[in-house]
Amino acid sequence: MAASREPIGVIGTGYVGLVTAAGFAELGNDVWCIDIDAAKVERLKSGEIPIYEPGLEELVVKHRGRLHFSTDIADALEHARLLFVAVGTPPTYSGDADLSAVHAVVDAMPPSDRHALVMKSTVPVGTGGSIKRIFRERGKEGFRYVSCPEFLKEGSAVADFLHPDRVVVGDDGDWAGDAVVDLYAPLEAPLVRTDIASAEMIKLAANAFLATKISFINEIANVCEVTGSNVTEVAKGIGLDDRIGPKFLQAGVGFGGSCFPKDVSALKQLAGNSGYHFQLLNAVIEVNELQKRRVIGKLEKHLGTLVGKHVALLGLAFKPNTDDMREATSLVLSARLTAAGAQVSAYDPIAEDEARRLMPGLEFADDAIDAVRGADAVVLVTEWDEFKNIDLRAVAEAMAGDVLIDGRNALDPKAVRAAGLVYEGIGRGPAPAYLAPTLAGVAG
Ligand SMILES: NC(=O)c1ccc[n+]([C@@H]2O[C@H](COP(=O)([O-])OP(=O)(O)OC[C@H]3O[C@@H](n4cnc5c(N)ncnc54)[C@H](O)[C@@H]3O)[C@@H](O)[C@H]2O)c1
Repeated sequence: MAASREPIGVIGTGYVGLVTAAGFAELGNDVWCIDIDAAKVERLKSGEIPIYEPGLEELVVKHRGRLHFSTDIADALEHARLLFVAVGTPPTYSGDADLSAVHAVVDAMPPSDRHALVMKSTVPVGTGGSIKRIFRERGKEGFRYVSCPEFLKEGSAVADFLHPDRVVVGDDGDWAGDAVVDLYAPLEAPLVRTDIASAEMIKLAANAFLATKISFINEIANVCEVTGSNVTEVAKGIGLDDRIGPKFLQAGVGFGGSCFPKDVSALKQLAGNSGYHFQLLNAVIEVNELQKRRVIGKLEKHLGTLVGKHVALLGLAFKPNTDDMREATSLVLSARLTAAGAQVSAYDPIAEDEARRLMPGLEFADDAIDAVRGADAVVLVTEWDEFKNIDLRAVAEAMAGDVLIDGRNALDPKAVRAAGLVYEGIGRGPAPAYLAPTLAGVAG
């Protein structure tokens, strides 16, 4: 029954906070949403959703009566005992996580025996322990602490909240941990209830493992290119092994986003600061950095020098279905192209506003065909559905040249070639005709 669900607070109304708030509102909770960004709070109060996330706007509109927005943390403290923390933890110059926003929240907490902080932000292992120490030193030992890391994916965040693979709750075995478990109970997800440090490590290890899988398949793709094999076929062949699984085996131009790069780096630094050299993560990071730049070599192979060449980028967001540009591969790519003397045009269905701010030197087009008009080469950077279904003949007609680099292996090489374009994917090397039909077919 919705009436029996307790009100909660959510501090930070970004991708994680707003989705968490809307998700709990869907489960029947009243949610007090706090953010220091007054302009954002005003937009939210007036029903405007500051980020693009499929299904989020509908949920926020549907539960407008349950969602309360404010800049004053006292509102959340008054109405809720559980305060979910979803503030940003971006990387510092050293690669460690910047916990200043988390500490601002901790500092704002009054002494209390009836409240708990529930940490959704991704933090280094040991953060919960040091926050509890701070509470003790300041006479706030009654304040409880729970680690409840978030695993949602931008682009499908609402669905991920409502249907999580698992819920992880790290706590001291007190009322606060029980209350968080109860809150998530209607989702009927597998529960991992553990200690705080292990919960913190689960989040970092999960992201590090996924990033490792991506860098692994990208290296396989690069070797495919020099051995005449096809990574799409290889991924299918290894992904059918239960022990490996098919997900995160799509070769491409590297991972970006607000989580993988910073969390992998944070785990590497965390290990290093504790005296352990996490060698594997060094390779994961380096492979990813090089992968973003490999497109330049592919373009030079076809175009020679890039000086004065017109290159069009299709897609700028770090992945489809989001407007998030944080650590997007397009940022590195466009900077490298500009440095190499190329003229760069670009189109993204959703991320244009943020992209304009971050990449002022680019020419932004109103649609994909407009972006490729007059281009010597086109690079598909983000695999939006709109590009997967693009009219390839219209692309070929609009371009001055004929090179298409499929940075996400999202297009059918045969269809691209049939439209009169030169196709080059990632690791989709030319396969000898005598190999298995599927392999020859894809490499076609
Ligand atoms: N984005 C993701 O896909 C994702 C997934 C899992 C975990 N996480 C983690 O969740 C955390 C939040 O990520 P995000 O992408 O939602 O960040 P975000 O930058 O989109 O949102 C953070 C919000 O916190 C607000 N804020 C900052 N300081 C504040 C304070 N002192 N009081 C109140 N509000 C404050 C900001 O104004 C902003 O609105 C990070 O630690 C991130 O690593 C993110």
